[in-house]
Amino acid sequence: MKTIYKAHILFTKEKSRFEVFENGYIAVAANGQVIGVAENEQECEKWKVGNEDIEVIDFGDRLLIPAMNDLHVHAPQYRNQGLAMDLELLPWLQNYTFPEEMKYADLGYAERMYRRFVHDLWRFGTMRACVFATIHTESTRLLMRLFKEAGMGALVGKVAMNRNCPESLKESVEEMVKGYEELINDFRINNLGFRDEKMLVGPIITPRFIPSCTPEMLQACGELAAKYQLPVQSHLSENQDEIALVKTLEKDSTCYGDAYNRYCLFGQTPTVMAHCVWTKGEELELMKQNNVMVAHCPTSNLNVASGMAPIRHFLDEGLQVGLGSDISGGHDLNLFRIMVYAIQVSKMHYQQNHEQPFLTLSEAFWMATKSAGNFFGQVGSFEPGYEFDALVIDDSDLNHDNYSLLERLERIIYLGDDRQIVHRFCCGKEITEPKITCGS
Ligand code: GUN
Ligand code: FE
Repeated sequence: MKTIYKAHILFTKEKSRFEVFENGYIAVAANGQVIGVAENEQECEKWKVGNEDIEVIDFGDRLLIPAMNDLHVHAPQYRNQGLAMDLELLPWLQNYTFPEEMKYADLGYAERMYRRFVHDLWRFGTMRACVFATIHTESTRLLMRLFKEAGMGALVGKVAMNRNCPESLKESVEEMVKGYEELINDFRINNLGFRDEKMLVGPIITPRFIPSCTPEMLQACGELAAKYQLPVQSHLSENQDEIALVKTLEKDSTCYGDAYNRYCLFGQTPTVMAHCVWTKGEELELMKQNNVMVAHCPTSNLNVASGMAPIRHFLDEGLQVGLGSDISGGHDLNLFRIMVYAIQVSKMHYQQNHEQPFLTLSEAFWMATKSAGNFFGQVGSFEPGYEFDALVIDDSDLNHDNYSLLERLERIIYLGDDRQIVHRFCCGKEITEPKITCGS
């Protein structure tokens, strides 16, 4: 059965402008994919072929937009959200982050926190996320299960790390490989992660970053990615001290990105690197060549005092850039707010450098929807063939004058939060509120 939704439809096919359908229609096939968008009722006739049932759902004066995609977030740092903002990256990891991540050896604690985390992603309309878990295989499996039960899309990484951290967060290379193969078996080969043959939840190879992994660990990560054709996520060129440390650890590498590349962790399979605040020159060229995506995390870069990523430059160079909340370096899970921060940070960058214009609203929206969505398949737009991942927004509390549809969307992005989101869809299916309490 097809479904036709009627609403004010807005999305970004291209980063430079919004597509706007006032009182528009969108047809969604039984498999959850968008068939097309129409401007008026007559145009909908093209979808009424044969005697297939069509359900029409009218959202009235509400806005229908693609759902949010968070390209970089740490689930086990959720308890630290909004805390610990007084250190730069390396001491921040040692003092605040690693002690929290150790707790995920305890499945009970993990379930309590991870349920809250998945619930709150849902709350803010994030239907897909690229997630770091911890080294712990059992709690990582639990997190994947929670996403699957919720019906939301997630690439979840058991974190590989074996140096420069407390003993209890180190895992041997053999244990890391064994843990990954168990997860791959559960969620990929046994089809547990598939729904209608779409892999909504799956594993992603996740070396934490070069300082956390010995050459043997990096080698094993690259081999796992190649063997199982899995995507890769990590951190790149976030902080000056980190970059200096990488130079001492990977002496033969010509840049930080080259260190990943040597272990086949830099675009040999789909790869996303968080931050890239200091990426330039050879590293930028290598990212372009290898199609490595950037997860831009402006709140994190502010809080951990890392610097301002030159996103305008990256876009002009043709790099793929999505947005990430990077909890708990970042303090906000709400991707609307991350769009605002991305624009504001680019304005600061513009003021300092003056050579390039700052980001526009449509560019920020595109980064949170279509561009980030590309990492998950055909996700983040309403073009034919895209998965129907969508949010229905009731902005009646913000819409108190004759605002145009674009003005309404801008106000939702700048002023709105979960209170305006009244329906959420992932892969064509309405996603209801996930349970926060354990065992229910
Ligand atoms: N680099 C390595 N690990 C982390 C992390 O947990 N957060 C951030 N922001 N950067 C990292
Ligand atoms: Fe991060």
